[in-house]
Amino acid sequence: MIIGIDSSGFKGEVAIYGGGNIEVHTLEYAEDIPGFLDEKGIKPEGFEAIGVSIGPGSFTGLRVGLAIAKGMAKGRGIDVYGIPTFDGLLFGQEDGLYIPVLHARRGIVFSARIKKEGESFERLIEDGVYPLQEVLGWDGVFIGNALERYQKEFKDRKKVEKFTIADGVARITEMAIRGMGISAVKNPETPIYLSPSEAERKRMGDFDILPVSPQEIPEILEIEREAFVEPWDMRSFLLVLAEGEKCIVWKVVKNGIIAGYLVGCFYGQKFHLMNIAVKKGYRRKGIARALLHNLLKYLKKKGDVIEVYLEVRIHNEPAIELYKMFGFRIEAIIPEYYKNGDDGLLMKLPLSGIQ
Ligand code: COA
Repeated sequence: MIIGIDSSGFKGEVAIYGGGNIEVHTLEYAEDIPGFLDEKGIKPEGFEAIGVSIGPGSFTGLRVGLAIAKGMAKGRGIDVYGIPTFDGLLFGQEDGLYIPVLHARRGIVFSARIKKEGESFERLIEDGVYPLQEVLGWDGVFIGNALERYQKEFKDRKKVEKFTIADGVARITEMAIRGMGISAVKNPETPIYLSPSEAERKRMGDFDILPVSPQEIPEILEIEREAFVEPWDMRSFLLVLAEGEKCIVWKVVKNGIIAGYLVGCFYGQKFHLMNIAVKKGYRRKGIARALLHNLLKYLKKKGDVIEVYLEVRIHNEPAIELYKMFGFRIEAIIPEYYKNGDDGLLMKLPLSGIQ
C-alpha cells in the first residue's frame, strides 16, 4: 500500500493506494492524518512507501506534511518520496498546457506554466511566487485552490475546478518505487519553500518591526481602543513592558507611524500571545502576518519554546483566519471567556517537530 500526503494548502489530503484502488480523503488539519489512518485500521507497517508533496506551498503546511511522513516511516524501513506539488496536481489531468495556482498571500500565488505530456511535466515558466495579476496574463488552463479564492478574477478563464493533489502524489510515488518517477526526491530533508516575502515587500512597501518604548503607549492605546470592545488600559501595557525579557512588546512602523503591535509573554517553555492589533486603514496589507512571522522566527531561533497559545473571541474571523494560516489549531472553546459573555477559543501552535 502507498500513502500520498498533501498539505501544501491549508488542509490535509491523504490518498490510500493499494490493490489497484485509490481513495482520497480531505481532513481539516494535516496533523490528523496519522490518527485518521489508525482509526481506519491502516497501520504504517503495511506501507510500501509514503509520498508527500514538497512544494511549492504553505510554509507551515509543507513542513508538517514532511514531518508526518517521516514520523510514520521512521524505524520501519519505509522510504519517503518528495513529489513536486504541481506534478501531483497535474498527474491525473489530460495532456495540455496548465497554470497551477495555489493561494500564497493576498494577491500572490504559487504558480508555474507547465506542459503536461503523459508523465512528463515540462516547465515553460518555473515554479515560483507571482502576483496574481501577472499570472492572469499567461495562456493555459488554470487549476488549484486559488480559483476558489479569486472567483471573480478567474470567471472567464479556462479552468479545472475539481482536483486532488494527494492522488497524483501517491501515483507518482508508485512509479518512483519502480524507478520511473523522475520528479520524485527520495527521502527529502526539507520541503522546497519559495518565499513570498519579496512579492510581499513590494506590496507593503517598507516597514520596521521594533520594540515598543513606554512613551509610545498613548499611540498604541489609540489603536487598541479602535480594535477591541474591551481594550487594555495604559497600566496593562506598562505592566508587560515592566516584565523586561519575560515579555515581548513589538510595534510595526510604516512611514513613521505605528501601524500595529504585538504583545506576548513567556511562561516556562510556552509563549502566550496576548494581544495583536493593526490600525484601521493599514489592515489587510500583511502587517499582522509580518508580526507573527517575525515572532515565530524569533521563538524558533531561541529554541526552548515548545508551544505558542492564545485566546480569541469565537466570532473574530479575521484573527482566527490569520492564526490558522500559521498552523494554529483550535484546542478548546472557553465558555464566556470575555466580560460581555462571548465564548473564547483556545488556539495552540506546537513549535517542536516543525523546524
Ligand atoms: N477576513 C478574513 N481573513 C482575514 C481578515 C479578514 N477581514 N483579515 C486578515 N485575515 C486573514 C487572512 O487569511 C489574511 O491573509 P490574506 O490577506 O492573504 O487573505 C491573513 O489573515 C493575514 O492578514 P494581514 O493583512 O496580515 O492582517 P492584518 O494586518 O489586517 O491584521 C488583525 C489582522 C486580526 C490583527 C486585524 O484585523 C485587527 O487588528 N483586528 C482587531 C484586533 C483583533 O481582533 N486582534 C486579534 C485578537 S485575538
